[in-house]
Amino acid sequence: MLALSLILGGLAGGAVAQDPPKGTFPATPLAQKHFAYPTGIPYKVDTEDNLIRGAQTGFNICNSTTENQKSLCQTSFVNSADDFCLWAPIDPGSVVGDIEGEMVAWCTKPGHGTRLIPKDTLKGVQFMRTPDYVQVIGFIDQTKINLKSDDFGGEMDPHGADLRGNPLGGLVYSNAWSGGNANQYTQVIEWHNFIGSNAFCIKVCDPSKPNAAHFCEHIYDRIGCAYNAPNNAQNGIFESCEGENQDFPGVYVENGVTMTYTQPPESLGPISTMPYVARVPASSNCVKHSSETLFAALASVTAPGDAKPTSSPAAPTSGAPAGSGSSSSGSAKPTSSGSSTGTAAGAGSTGNSAGALMVSGTATVFGVIFSALFLS
Ligand SMILES: *[C@@H]1O[C@H](CO)[C@@H](O)[C@H](O)[C@H]1NC(C)=O
Repeated sequence: MLALSLILGGLAGGAVAQDPPKGTFPATPLAQKHFAYPTGIPYKVDTEDNLIRGAQTGFNICNSTTENQKSLCQTSFVNSADDFCLWAPIDPGSVVGDIEGEMVAWCTKPGHGTRLIPKDTLKGVQFMRTPDYVQVIGFIDQTKINLKSDDFGGEMDPHGADLRGNPLGGLVYSNAWSGGNANQYTQVIEWHNFIGSNAFCIKVCDPSKPNAAHFCEHIYDRIGCAYNAPNNAQNGIFESCEGENQDFPGVYVENGVTMTYTQPPESLGPISTMPYVARVPASSNCVKHSSETLFAALASVTAPGDAKPTSSPAAPTSGAPAGSGSSSSGSAKPTSSGSSTGTAAGAGSTGNSAGALMVSGTATVFGVIFSALFLS
């Protein structure tokens, strides 16, 4: 390539203004950038606009002026069952694999300077605290946070093939390890978030623990929540639990021998079989909540595709956007909200529902294939 451009330059007489070849990797990987919350955070964490994937889409200083449903805030939180954020697309009808580098934060509570998750998006949520991490598993109507209804989804994490993260410059904080001080935040260095097939899992690993990078492993981006965050969450149930640690993603025991799974490259086609089923660790002290209580702040938040609320019939058109009809039927209702229903069996504990989440049929094993696309 260099040789070619020299030749072309020579042919053209030498004075051709050519852009230098774009690099791939940032000077400092995202996972090595540390910022105290809130005062240490820069406006944009990733400023290397000249690299192959271009500029960071959003920004990281988020406050009341950035808190709206068009927000491009890319600073996220995972605190508790009623206070967490997901990475989701900017625009309706998106496919994770196309825009994973541009996801923005959608949160369950105001105060983080982000978008809010619309009402009726969350259909079931399990918050789990273990010795080394906290995680949230959820069943969702993903069309309400801008995913295409049939998108199998993908993985976000602070690495990505070019180490700029997905989304680029995305930060995650938690107050889960501050001994009850809700205003004391720790930057989460290692985390992973799968979303798609009307479900999500987000795990944030305690940076003070030695195995954070293993529990929040990011290389198994094609095998979904059931292998990266095995759980027994159930659709329709909202709860907070305590649990033991999972096995590291990709690590399993077969006939007494500890094995490590190797995820095949996408060039070999869909992953149709797995040599193991991930163990769901024991959990206890689950406390059930009502979603109305957990997510009271979301009751008035409508999804981008929803029709505008026709609140006061008295008011004529006071400058409302033209043709409120336009959005009315447009919001493609998911015709088969299928995947999330794998849970029916076992109101109890044994973990079948866990496997169901994201691996239930075949959908997600095939599904979560998009994460490393841009360099493949
Ligand atoms: C609020 O956020 C905006 C956008 O990031 C930033 O420009 C502004 O300085 C922030 N305001 C305060 C008071 O921090």
